[in-house]
Amino acid sequence: MRQIYPVAGPDLQVIPRAAAGPLPDAVARLAHLYGNGAAANAVVPPRHGRLRANMVASADGAVTLAGRSGGLSGPADKMIFTVLRSLADLILVGAGTARTEHYRPVQQEETWLQLRPAGAPLPPIAVVTGTLDLSNCEGLLTVPPGPSQTIVITTAAAPADRKAALAGKARVIEAGEYAVDVRTAVQALAGLGYSSILTEGGPTLLGELIAAGLLDELCLTTSPQLAAGPAGRIASGPPATQGLSLGHALVDGDFLLCRYLSG
Ligand SMILES: NC(=O)c1ccc[n+]([C@@H]2O[C@H](COP(=O)([O-])OP(=O)(O)OC[C@H]3O[C@@H](n4cnc5c(N)ncnc54)[C@H](OP(=O)(O)O)[C@@H]3O)[C@@H](O)[C@H]2O)c1
Repeated sequence: MRQIYPVAGPDLQVIPRAAAGPLPDAVARLAHLYGNGAAANAVVPPRHGRLRANMVASADGAVTLAGRSGGLSGPADKMIFTVLRSLADLILVGAGTARTEHYRPVQQEETWLQLRPAGAPLPPIAVVTGTLDLSNCEGLLTVPPGPSQTIVITTAAAPADRKAALAGKARVIEAGEYAVDVRTAVQALAGLGYSSILTEGGPTLLGELIAAGLLDELCLTTSPQLAAGPAGRIASGPPATQGLSLGHALVDGDFLLCRYLSG
């Protein structure tokens, strides 16, 4: 993998899984490139901590192959996934993604602990859901109370029995009456001290974050494949536009890995 914009960089070893021990140079270099501060060419200062999205799409814009994102990914995309998780206070996902992708608590091999402040806990997963249906991702409810415990962001109108069943298994935040208001949700997370938020989608949630003007940056891997078919794009919902500037671009083989900044 190597940087091609705004300057050409050296070859970086691709290491898809995090490990203990000395931090590899390539990981340190990526952590610097994706550092949490706004990049030098960011125009708009963040309105809350920072909220960035990490997504992968085919060359024709499909967000899934056969219903999942895994077939679009590659080793460099996986490496960036681990670096971005390592730099985040919290991982925010919609329940559709959590169910389809069988989300589980953040794992050690997905996080370079060397990039986190000494003693910092693994970042929690926060799931946005109206139904409180967490089937296929029940592992999220096994984290003991504490800073890494899963957060469930839901509504006042969510099924009371399911809400009650979450007691002791997840921290529950109500952020809306009948639908989660993502602005209220992000403010609530900031109030709990989560100022650097990484969203991993999916398209419904990302569309809402864009529409609310909350997205500071998009890290997008373009996979060298065409998908055609019915797959959606990385963001859905009502039309919402947001200008982006290209912070940097990397290539790994035929994969293109870009960081776009708001404004
Ligand atoms: N290529 C990629 O990078 C990537 C990344 C992520 C996901 N994906 C793919 O995207 C697909 C899932 O798409 P999706 O749009 O369904 O995913 P999503 O945005 O993760 O989930 C949608 C669900 O999130 C909950 N939700 C979102 N906004 C809400 C709100 N304002 N209030 C209450 N609940 C809200 C609802 O859950 P309830 O139904 O529980 O109420 C809704 O059904 C999967 O196939 C996945 O593989 C691809």
